[in-house]
Amino acid sequence: MKKILVTGGTGYIGSHTVVELQEAGYEPIIIDDLSNSYIEVVDNIQSITGKRPAFEKTDLKDREATMEVFSRHNEIEAIIHFAALKAVGESVEKPIEYYKNNINSLIHLLEAMKLYNIDHFVFSSSCTVYGEPDELPVNEEAPVKKASSPYGNTKQISEEIIQDYIIPNSGKNFISLRYFNPIGAHPSAKIGELPTGIPNNLVPFITQTAIGIRDQLKVFGNDYNTPDGTAIRDYINVVDLARAHVVAIDRLLSGKNRSAFEVFNLGTGSGNSVLEIINTFEKATGKKINYTITGRREGDVEKVYADTSYANEELGWRAEKGLEETLLSAWKWEQKYRSEHT
Ligand code: UFG
Repeated sequence: MKKILVTGGTGYIGSHTVVELQEAGYEPIIIDDLSNSYIEVVDNIQSITGKRPAFEKTDLKDREATMEVFSRHNEIEAIIHFAALKAVGESVEKPIEYYKNNINSLIHLLEAMKLYNIDHFVFSSSCTVYGEPDELPVNEEAPVKKASSPYGNTKQISEEIIQDYIIPNSGKNFISLRYFNPIGAHPSAKIGELPTGIPNNLVPFITQTAIGIRDQLKVFGNDYNTPDGTAIRDYINVVDLARAHVVAIDRLLSGKNRSAFEVFNLGTGSGNSVLEIINTFEKATGKKINYTITGRREGDVEKVYADTSYANEELGWRAEKGLEETLLSAWKWEQKYRSEHT
């Protein structure tokens, strides 16, 4: 079985990807410092797939500790790098922490690739690199806009570092996956999104409001230039997103990539407004959401959704799950998790 190192493998997208990798016959090895996830996720992955992934509690900022993990696991074929700080607002408050964490982790992994002869790497990027796009749907050729937060900047800088790295390091291959808005949970409801504290993101805030942990959802602005005035995003099911990582790994390991640095948008190709998400959630679950309209959130773009044709054609991958099914999976996860943790 081919070994794939998954950093951030107990996190939200990471854990779903570990499951998909195992089901595709790969052997994922997780590195995570558990700064925003829980060790129980390893048990939950095992309970879905019947296989327990190797787990290394390691802080990727610690170069020595990181290298030590590589020295103990021979023949790692590829790295998927999820581990990162990801809260947009927090990154404005703590820019140095974001740069220190997200950039040093990447650099240590790039060094490890050289030292341990690992040729393949999948990077977690974000549609945030497009800012407010000039054209919609946005494709991979669209210009990278000035980042609106240190978090977004770490994604842009990381893509630049990778592009500089491949110049003198021939034989090293990278795929950068630009995620739109991942939502939902595994259909088993055994893994899902688990924000610590007050959720920043829309769907966890909705499910926590529905279950009574939050009193009221704030809808950030209804004066955007959109049909109902609320902002539009491309919400993609996390399992669909996870599957794309397996496809990217297959592509790299079989040498089908066209260049040493490829970029793909991962979205559904269609946009939904905040109110559409609330309405669809209510319809799918039968739960009413107490919400109020407030002012815009700083740094938010008006609308962004993906042109997915390149990913569809080149990767042979497309998002398959519908919005209702996805929101229902988020709700099932919230209910199951809370029933077991009260
Ligand atoms: N929203 C609300 N109320 C909330 C939370 C969100 O109205 O309590 C709205 C936002 O204003 C936005 C939409 O719901 O219009 C989606 O917001 P999220 O916070 O869920 O997602 P974002 O699109 O802001 O952020 C996501 C990722 C970031 C990434 C960004 C790139 O979470 O990591 O996309 O655009 F940087």
